[in-house]
Amino acid sequence: MADKPARGLADVVAASTALSDVDGVAGRLYYRGYDIHDLAGRTSFEECVHLLVRGTLPTTAELDTLVAELAEARTIGASAQAVLPHVIRSGTPMEALRTLVSALSVDDPDASDSGAEANQRKAVRLVAQMPMLVATYHAARTGGAAPDPVVDLGIAGNFLLQITGSRPSPRAAEIFDECLVLHADHTMNASTFTARVVAATLSDMHSAITAAMGALRGPLHGGANEAVMKTMQSIDGGVDGVEAYVRQTLDAHGKLMGFGHRVYKTEDPRATHLRRISEELADSTGDRGYYKMSRRMEEVVFDVKGLYPNVDFFAASVYHYLGIPTDLFTPVFAVSRMSGWTAHVIEQHLDNRLIRPDSEYIGERDQKWVPIEER
Ligand code: SDX
Repeated sequence: MADKPARGLADVVAASTALSDVDGVAGRLYYRGYDIHDLAGRTSFEECVHLLVRGTLPTTAELDTLVAELAEARTIGASAQAVLPHVIRSGTPMEALRTLVSALSVDDPDASDSGAEANQRKAVRLVAQMPMLVATYHAARTGGAAPDPVVDLGIAGNFLLQITGSRPSPRAAEIFDECLVLHADHTMNASTFTARVVAATLSDMHSAITAAMGALRGPLHGGANEAVMKTMQSIDGGVDGVEAYVRQTLDAHGKLMGFGHRVYKTEDPRATHLRRISEELADSTGDRGYYKMSRRMEEVVFDVKGLYPNVDFFAASVYHYLGIPTDLFTPVFAVSRMSGWTAHVIEQHLDNRLIRPDSEYIGERDQKWVPIEER
């Protein structure tokens, strides 16, 4: 008889990985042994992609090669373009992008090849294509055309250019680049675990990534950043309305989006950087409202429930200040996490065993069958 499962597989070690590690007690996050506090603000997202997907922080020559490959791969193919008019008609951006990511496989020459070299090529394509997909989707739904990416801006700068229509300031591009590094990988989170389960059947990378997109969408996971913004926008009275809102929500046993974490028992180290960034942008834009609401909410939630903000909490105000539409906040998470997801698929395929856990049966037993006429 199987043991009782840990609800939500809490504290279950489901895989071995060399990609990232989290110390939930100390509040530390590492990408291939590098502390996120050393990487954030000092390592570009492209360097981070090289670290996760190719295994090392790149030399200048290696980075130039990857940047050139990413620039070359910044196209989304005829099939995704053909699907676009249909998916912009209804549904949420993450539903549309889940379908568009799947459509990318039709034009990918390596789609059915899960060999190490083909997976490496697909990882670079998907990392390059995801921001283009979001920008093309956003342009199509607003009836415009996304500006072409420019060579002197990286993934972060070109994404802001294509989404806002204006070339970002150098500091804004740096800030968004740091956000992409902060969101790149995070051990066995729900969407990454989903990708690994699919890859472990020896299914292909696009299938695994499409499944991960479905998992990320949920408000308990990547959908939380959008929910945080909507929460703040719904509170009457701004900062003065925060305490009452928090207390009402908790009294009703509701969840406050952007707080709590399955692994962190202290502050999420990514929130530390995002809080700092939110304050900087509040000051530079002069729009301190959402930053002040965030700080007040953080204070009250900790006082009342002892919960810390997670990566999604301050990301909300940061993305708002950067001019990103609220319903694109979760797609932004996917732009970054595409690097981690693809790296995990590569790792799973390199040393694979089918992921198939047991289950505890809690249903009826010894049922006596009778023909339908007698039921
Ligand atoms: C991400 O896993 C990752 O690594 C994910 C991620 C990544 O980088 O990939 O870090 C990104 O998804 C961050 C999480 C984003 N989600 C949210 O912000 C949604 C709100 N958070 C909660 O739903 C919750 O904290 C979870 C889902 C994140 C974690 O849930 P757990 O581990 O299952 O914890 P739980 O729901 O069992 O809560 C334990 C207790 C409960 O209190 P009691 O009933 O025991 O009194 O803490 C309370 C919960 O009520 N609690 C909350 C809360 N989070 C936990 N109460 C109110 N609001 C919350 N947000």
